[in-house]
Amino acid sequence: MTSVLLTGIAELVTNDPAAGPGPLGSVPDAALVLEGGRVAWTGPAARAPAADAGYDVGGRAVLPGFVDSHSHLLFAGDRAGEFAARMAGQPYAAGGIRATVAATRAASDDALAANLARLVAEMRRGGTTTVEIKSGYGLTVADEARCLALAREVTEETTFLGAHVVPEGSDVADYLDLVTGPMLEAAAPHARWIDVFCEDGAFDADAARTVLAAGAAAGLRGRLHANQLGPGPGVRLAAELGLVAVDHCTHLTDADVAALRDSGTIATLLPGVEFSTRQPWPDARRLLDAGVRVALATDCNPGSSYTSSMPLCVALAVRELGMTPAEAVHAATAVGAAALDRDDVGRLGVGARADLVVLDAPSHLHLAYRPGVPLTVATWVAGRPVTG
Ligand code: NIG
Ligand code: FE
Repeated sequence: MTSVLLTGIAELVTNDPAAGPGPLGSVPDAALVLEGGRVAWTGPAARAPAADAGYDVGGRAVLPGFVDSHSHLLFAGDRAGEFAARMAGQPYAAGGIRATVAATRAASDDALAANLARLVAEMRRGGTTTVEIKSGYGLTVADEARCLALAREVTEETTFLGAHVVPEGSDVADYLDLVTGPMLEAAAPHARWIDVFCEDGAFDADAARTVLAAGAAAGLRGRLHANQLGPGPGVRLAAELGLVAVDHCTHLTDADVAALRDSGTIATLLPGVEFSTRQPWPDARRLLDAGVRVALATDCNPGSSYTSSMPLCVALAVRELGMTPAEAVHAATAVGAAALDRDDVGRLGVGARADLVVLDAPSHLHLAYRPGVPLTVATWVAGRPVTG
């Protein structure tokens, strides 16, 4: 097995509190040894062991690859016109999802796979090394199954979201029977997770409970979209069920925040949505100060958040959600991994998968300090460069 020694690391973010101060466990003037796709050694460059090969990153920062724990990359078409209307004053409405459902159903497998590959490549160029991908724009047994099968080709973190909206012309009760019956049966072999859009205009808490229970019986773990467009019962349901994460969390009562704190459920904030819908920003500061763990993800989809950029989410979280740069980077890496119940990614400690980002900057601070600048010069997955 060939080992590789990375040197010239101005700041190494490990996310290991034993390695350095703060949530990031940063090591200045560091080195890193990779072997067999894993991290074999980290520490100050002056103490680095010998390795079979060497790679000098040139005085740059090295971070764990971003873990994007919430995306919807299986779709066709876009909704740029809807975005333009919102920027001219129209509100965001969940019903726009149906336009993408029609385009997705009409697309060939090849067209869906090509769009997926384009977006995954875009994510890799931005430094994302683990991505969760949901279905939810098929909403028939065959379309949900084919979207999940395509997603499975690019990630293990696949999520069945048949309960995204009730498709046009369907009755709610009949559709729920389909989602919890034949659609779940067809989707389950390709999925790890099950999700429900629990919101006015989509599914209520009883429906969400029913779908998550059916998913659990089929071996799928639950997650929820909740409290995006207004206050509602979804966040408390996620806490009651002990879900690992609940996503959006834009409109929260004190009782919601307390429920998240008590359950340990991670609040995944998706600032690309508020950027693209002009809705109020979620309040990360309030959650962190209450002791809730916060993750950041893109929610990349053609309706509410058509960005694949975790660096943008970090910058928005710092500027608009009240996070420090260190908290935001931690949320986009280690806490994103925790939101997928993964401990092999989102950190650069010994034994972790060697997934990392090299920034054209001396420290993680520059992700928020230099917003909109493409700082990712290389992305490595399992010990090999995939870009740069
Ligand atoms: O996470 N909230 C529900 N689903 C997506 C929006 C999808 C769309 O508008 O197409 C979201 O924001
Ligand atoms: Fe979403």
